[in-house]
Amino acid sequence: MSEQNQKAVPARSRGEQAVSIIIREHQGLWRVLDLLDLLQQDMNVNDQRPDEVLFNTIFDYIQHFSNRVHSQPTEIVLYRLLREKSPETAELLDKLERGYVIGHQKINELRELLAACTRNWPNGREEFSHALSRFTQALRKHIKKEEGVVIPRAKEVLNEEDWGKIVEARDQQNDPLFGDRVREEFRELRHQIVSYTPERFGGLGLSHPTSRPETGREMLSIEGLVSSYGQIEVLHDVSLRINSGEIVSLVGANGAGKSTLLMAISGLQPLDKGQMTFEGKDLNRMAVDKRVSNGIVQVPEGRQVFKDLTVYDNLRLGAYTRKQGPEVQSDLQKVFSKFPILEQKRENLAGELSGGQQQMLAIGRALMAKPRLLLLDEPSMGLAPLIVEEIFGIIRELKEEGITVFLVEQNASQALALADRGYVLETGRVVLEGTGRELLSNEKVREAYLGM
Ligand SMILES: Nc1ncnc2c1ncn2[C@@H]1O[C@H](COP(=O)(O)OP(=O)(O)OP(=O)(O)O)[C@@H](O)[C@H]1O
Ligand SMILES: [Mg+2]
Repeated sequence: MSEQNQKAVPARSRGEQAVSIIIREHQGLWRVLDLLDLLQQDMNVNDQRPDEVLFNTIFDYIQHFSNRVHSQPTEIVLYRLLREKSPETAELLDKLERGYVIGHQKINELRELLAACTRNWPNGREEFSHALSRFTQALRKHIKKEEGVVIPRAKEVLNEEDWGKIVEARDQQNDPLFGDRVREEFRELRHQIVSYTPERFGGLGLSHPTSRPETGREMLSIEGLVSSYGQIEVLHDVSLRINSGEIVSLVGANGAGKSTLLMAISGLQPLDKGQMTFEGKDLNRMAVDKRVSNGIVQVPEGRQVFKDLTVYDNLRLGAYTRKQGPEVQSDLQKVFSKFPILEQKRENLAGELSGGQQQMLAIGRALMAKPRLLLLDEPSMGLAPLIVEEIFGIIRELKEEGITVFLVEQNASQALALADRGYVLETGRVVLEGTGRELLSNEKVREAYLGM
């Protein structure tokens, strides 16, 4: 906006502008409270086990709100000015601020009650439901106080200059009420809530598991696999299995045959011998694209993204086996909310991204294919430690969302720490298997792969 334009805006409208921002945030919060009511009703009347992911996302949103407001109350321009100009409101403001702190604790309690309720369903339902009612009531009262008392009072005592300061706070990234960054975070969380809310409640209803996936059922089984490059046999009689919901790590030195094994599972590397089944289906005779549409999706070594295509086009290509439509669009949004940087750079060429961003793009592209078994070939390779942390955090998240992960890594300590189970491959043979913990404490593994 040019300076002239800025001057042309009548000062009074700044007050209106600020108030409308506050009211919009309140409306957002109010809608979330309405959604909580619906979900509670669904649980009590329709005997629906509560959706832990959705509830926790809602709690994140509310907690974010309270965190922000409470983080540095003195930095909230509106509260500060109001305290100065209208000392008699100080008591109420104190009370409202305390309300945020108490609300924060209450949500932590709600999370615990929710976990207990989903674990022991239908036991624990009443406790959770009661606590939830008390909480939503208190929060509604709180919003009404702000709208009914704080804002009218502010309208009375604050002058045009004050409102100007409040609106300016918008340009201060970190202002806890108006700052751009903060509003961006809220937008993000709201988006997640919408995408997790079932269609019947007006959300998009993306599919995701309502509770922790059960592990145990066999998903992939490999028996006696032998594979060669020309005359040279590189995999000798490999057998392993992956159960649904697990993270299974495969560790091994350079050239052990890890990538070859992943390519065999994807159908890109022929077998000499052996049998592979995926959810009971014979994989040996299944074409590559059929495997993808069945949910077996590989993220290849060295983050092979299409460097001359945009981030957006790379992601779209990930969905090539799927029918284009609203579901693909909403999955794209889901990838963007998992990797906000990809949304920011959606029109950039993939080749312009940093190594870590390219790895996120490679994973994002795989997610667009709706994987049920995700094959990751050394996702941490060549990345800085902090980025590696982030990638491993994402893998853990994918598991929580119900995706089964087969993770190939040379970075054995982190891969095994993350894994439910693991295998050690040495020159084409499985030499050890066990839980992640067992392998981490195994003498041989420690010596050969962890340098201890
Ligand atoms: N296209 C190929 N042609 C011939 N030999 C190959 C080919 N690709 C890999 N090899 C050989 O097969 C063996 C296993 O290679 P593979 O890439 O599967 O190992 P890896 O465990 O993934 O190793 P890295 O840790 O280096 O990625 C190695 O001896 C390698 O030299
Ligand atoms: Mg490899």
